[in-house]
Amino acid sequence: MSNKIQTLSGYFHEYQKSVLDPETFWARIGESFYWRKQWDETVSWDFEKPDVKWFVNGKLNITENIFERYLHTKGDTPAIIWEPNDPNEANRIVTYRELFEMTNQFCNALKAQGIEKGDRVIIYMPMVPEAAVAMLACARLGAIHSVVFAGFSSSALADRINDCEAKMVLTSDGNYRGAKQIPVKAVVDEAVESTPSIEKVIVLNRTGEEVTMKEGRDIWWHDAIANQSTDFAATEMDSEDLLFILYTSGSTGKPKGVVHTTGGYMVYAEYSFSNVFQYTPGDIYWCTADIGWITGHSYIVYGPLLAGGTTLMFEGVPTFPHAGRFWEIVDKYKVNQFYTAPTAIRALQVHGLEPIQPYSLNSLKVIGSVGEPINEEAWHWYHDHIGKGNCPLVDTWWQTETGGIMISALAGITPNKPAHASLPLPGIQPIIVDAEGNELKGNNVEGNLCIKFPWPSMIRTTYGDHEKCKNVYFSAYKNMYFTGDGAKRDHDGYLRILGRVDDVINVSGHRMGTAEVENAINEHPKVVESAVVGYPHDVKGQGIYAYVICDMTGRTEDSLKAEIKDTVRKIIGPIAKPDMVQIVPGLPKTRSGKIMRRILRKVASKDISNLGDTSTLLNPEVVDDIIKGAGL
Ligand code: PRX
Repeated sequence: MSNKIQTLSGYFHEYQKSVLDPETFWARIGESFYWRKQWDETVSWDFEKPDVKWFVNGKLNITENIFERYLHTKGDTPAIIWEPNDPNEANRIVTYRELFEMTNQFCNALKAQGIEKGDRVIIYMPMVPEAAVAMLACARLGAIHSVVFAGFSSSALADRINDCEAKMVLTSDGNYRGAKQIPVKAVVDEAVESTPSIEKVIVLNRTGEEVTMKEGRDIWWHDAIANQSTDFAATEMDSEDLLFILYTSGSTGKPKGVVHTTGGYMVYAEYSFSNVFQYTPGDIYWCTADIGWITGHSYIVYGPLLAGGTTLMFEGVPTFPHAGRFWEIVDKYKVNQFYTAPTAIRALQVHGLEPIQPYSLNSLKVIGSVGEPINEEAWHWYHDHIGKGNCPLVDTWWQTETGGIMISALAGITPNKPAHASLPLPGIQPIIVDAEGNELKGNNVEGNLCIKFPWPSMIRTTYGDHEKCKNVYFSAYKNMYFTGDGAKRDHDGYLRILGRVDDVINVSGHRMGTAEVENAINEHPKVVESAVVGYPHDVKGQGIYAYVICDMTGRTEDSLKAEIKDTVRKIIGPIAKPDMVQIVPGLPKTRSGKIMRRILRKVASKDISNLGDTSTLLNPEVVDDIIKGAGL
């Protein structure tokens, strides 16, 4: 592809152009796509409101840039290679033509069930090709998809459905996850009891387990597509029409619906994919994320397919039925680019080198990391034992809100530096600021990471609450997008991400808001108050530590702790379950009633050498009780 950078000097040259004249730069990238009508203006933006538009008044359908664009040359090329959870089950290889037909057929099914342009459709599905079909069919029809990770609980699912007033849920009877079988239809049934907007539920037969189908509401996937045509004319979309909503946690309140729109997201998903991974058509690319997260959206489905690539989709988990499962799959399909999270690497590191030994891994050309800072030990293990010391490792920093990779090496082009995301992609203008918002120029500086110019796939709004978008991302610093992360520019000018500077915890690469977990804990009738912080965790990166004030009558400490963990699991899902619960007599508070989390973080990290000034606390005596209770 002509927009692929090939050398380091080429990168610097492109970067320079993208900063000096962003409009010309992005217009050139945009031109390689198929538009029904060309845009009038490349970008219009105002970070105060915020109001950002890319490829203004351009008309297109993103799926025409996958299907109509490639069918004549790649009809028989695998679009999706699917590997099931159980290695004994048959795999599936879905060509571009088959994916096109499945998508069209499902468009017709959605339409027959009453879905129209602009309607919201929830996708709560396992990692099977039909999940990608569901996303693509929504996009082709003009419906807005909102994928919800199928590990979330019924109440978390209901919250998301209600927030975007979705009309339909797409789900399955059950999901396989390692040795477990998860009854997801039952979770959906419970959720939709409190979601008046849902009219229909389409259910894919995956596990064959018994489910209840509510007459008039529920319909099997195979029945919905039966007799539907495999032709469907894509709906014409405006560049700024909503493509999808994806919920993510923040430091306050409930998860926010991050809104991405059609034209800019399309351009950036493909551009970043092709450049970061140096993807060449014919390569087999594998990203181990779940489609419930942004990584799955941009780098399992949209990015690779927009590049005419072959994307591998894996239904299972890294350690089932054995700890060599990932490497077995790499060898089986001769995977060329492999993209995973540090937490998976650390989990596999624990098993030692033996599970890797049966596999050659010599097809690998590029390995990648995403979701959290990768510690140097994991970086070296991944680089040496998986990349065999000769694959570039791309440490990609980005967020649900950024839509695509923002800071990363370009594989084989940017020199590798362990634990450094390194340099921004062309078009991305990161800056480091101090607490007052002053730009810290030059090298050897550390502060908060902001972006000072728009990029095509950036968040447009938070669904149904534009003020929230403004307050969370555009109010901390004037005229800048604030990422919520801290960063350091080292002596070479390479960026290193230091992690969140707000009340967001990154657990196994998943974002959790402390307030969200506290709200769930507080639902337990015996809980008086709680405070949640993150602490360093060997495998998960960060663990969840909950300090809880409880009414203990009729309970033992152990039983109450177990009940509290279970409450969080039920309200949010297993990924939010606290790793540690400490029952405390009180929480350290300032005179204005604010919980002093700094102290709680220190105790949770077992680092009480320097607790700082506690004299301003309303209740300084409680600190000793907490330290004692933590066994320190
Ligand atoms: O703190 C950063 C961390 O993950 C956050 C974004 O989480 P989410 O929206 O769920 O998206 C994850 C996948 C893109 C960021 O604010 N993060 C993500 N990638 C990295 C990272 N931290 C350090 N290094 C990374 N490569």
